[in-house]
Amino acid sequence: MCGITGYIGYQQAAPVILEALKKLEYRGYDSAGIAVLHQGKLQVRKMQGRLHALEARLASEAAPLQGTLGIGHTRWATHGEPSDANSHPHRAGAVAVVHNGIIENYAPLKAWLCGQGAAFQSGTDTEAAAHLINYYYQRQSRDRPHADPLASAVAAAMERLNGSYALAVIAEDAPDRILAVRKDSPLIVGAGRGEQFLASDVPALLSRTREVYFLEEGEIAALYRDRIAFFNGQGETVHRKAARIDWDAAAAEKGGYPHFMLKEIHEQPKALEDTLKQRLCTGAGGRRDVDLGDMPLEDWKNARRVVITACGTAWHAALVAKHALERFARLPAEVDIASESRYRDPILNSGEVFMAISQSGETADTLAAARLAKAQGASVLALTNTKGSTLAREAGCALYTQAGPEIAVASTKAFTTQLMAVYLMALKLGRLRGSLTQEEYCRHLSALEEIPEKARQILGDERRIQRAAAHCFHKAKVFFMGRQFDYPVSLESALKLKEINYTHSEAFAAGELKHGPIALVDNETLVVAAATQRRLFDKIASNMQEVAARGASLLVITWEGETAFDRTAQEVFPIPRTEDSFSPLLAVIPAQLFAYYCATARGNDPDKPRNLAKSVTVE
Ligand code: AGP
Repeated sequence: MCGITGYIGYQQAAPVILEALKKLEYRGYDSAGIAVLHQGKLQVRKMQGRLHALEARLASEAAPLQGTLGIGHTRWATHGEPSDANSHPHRAGAVAVVHNGIIENYAPLKAWLCGQGAAFQSGTDTEAAAHLINYYYQRQSRDRPHADPLASAVAAAMERLNGSYALAVIAEDAPDRILAVRKDSPLIVGAGRGEQFLASDVPALLSRTREVYFLEEGEIAALYRDRIAFFNGQGETVHRKAARIDWDAAAAEKGGYPHFMLKEIHEQPKALEDTLKQRLCTGAGGRRDVDLGDMPLEDWKNARRVVITACGTAWHAALVAKHALERFARLPAEVDIASESRYRDPILNSGEVFMAISQSGETADTLAAARLAKAQGASVLALTNTKGSTLAREAGCALYTQAGPEIAVASTKAFTTQLMAVYLMALKLGRLRGSLTQEEYCRHLSALEEIPEKARQILGDERRIQRAAAHCFHKAKVFFMGRQFDYPVSLESALKLKEINYTHSEAFAAGELKHGPIALVDNETLVVAAATQRRLFDKIASNMQEVAARGASLLVITWEGETAFDRTAQEVFPIPRTEDSFSPLLAVIPAQLFAYYCATARGNDPDKPRNLAKSVTVE
């Protein structure tokens, strides 16, 4: 929920750190800070507000911050409201700390540290970690000299810190190193020549290096100017191989679009093509097939049930996965919101498989649910967009979508590429479990191969959606409804509008309309109906008439050339025809654009919606 970064090398640290923080701002942006070490003195500048406010303050100072070693932070407040004092870095004696995560036992630690004479300046959990490290640091260097007292102090503190943390630590009398440690929060170290970097996420490092190390759980990294040393929780040296990142730096920039969100909506055809290319292959006998990497196909082929867990948009993808796995593979699927399943003591029987879906691979609830399933002996599959993420490394097996970095808080291309991945999985399993003939399998695969071009056609019609949004963005009450595959699309569409337009929008299965929601329908209401399930057209048409009869305005997302709803709807968003089962891949795009253009019409920043962060790495 925050972004941390650090630099040690031969350049002035402040500009390097500020550049990295710009790339991390999407992770949290209520305050920012930097600490640079120069001639044995820690210079700390931190304040509430966006990063540009900190930059302006630094620029207004008589002289720029000097020093070639430093750390930086951009915050999304969890403990302690956004304020100058609660901003990071936090100082305690000789050390300065930046943190992403939550120290769950900070209160008893703080009480104990105060008893040891610590003077707290903030209301944050992080400051307890800073004082704890300093406590051991002072004693290590005095009571028990150690090869690296700072590393030893960090390791000693880790034994008492509960919760999730990615920490970067520097000390006034340690001008040659930065200590970095992670538990449950992502942390990446980048290797340079004569300089080293660290950050919460890859895009923050890409302009500097492509050689990166994803810190493992409980691992400590010591960054020196000429090398990086890794230790495990027991202080033993660990040898790590760098990963090479092939994203181009531009991919993590806006590419000429006004916002990352619009760029990422328009990147969907390419992301879908990349996800297809990665998986489609020619199997035995030269026949079309799907390659699912090291997914345990035997487990899944013989499974009696699959349990799928996720949060937010990924949960909506999980609902589509249920429909697809049951439709094509006749595999019973249960979908659970991760924050619910992790506390329900779920029943996972032998012969059942488990899938966790997460774009970031760092969502706390999803990680916890996956760990629980693994502890119960389930075969856990991670479907994620982020290589090296915690979920990817902890699950038995990871399937990657090829969406590339998704920077906007509101998820778009990650969602549609998750759908593409689960459709390919469902078709492959349908073939393996005998519920699909080779001919049906090939026909469905061909239909999926046409999707990227069809998505391009929808994007080519975005002006129509922009015009509709200009008339609707002020609507206080917006309902989304649909049946079968259209219901998860409605949920995802409502979430998009909620997240970035701040509209109280909600979705319901259209068949539920008369079980309650219709009581809220009046002439101030906007209803968006997703209508792509042809065998249920008369049902959804009735629901549309029911809301129209009560004065609601009606937008309909349906197939090109479909006229059944013309008389009832004020506006129709047509999408190119494909199989009804694959409609979510296309029907969600007009809804994404609608939410985006409503938000920009209202003057919101779609990339940094209030109160939200890209990755919910705490409960
Ligand atoms: C989606 O637009 C939201 N940003 C949010 O619901 C998100 O999908 C959710 O937090 C799950 O994130 P994940 O896929 O990284 O686990």
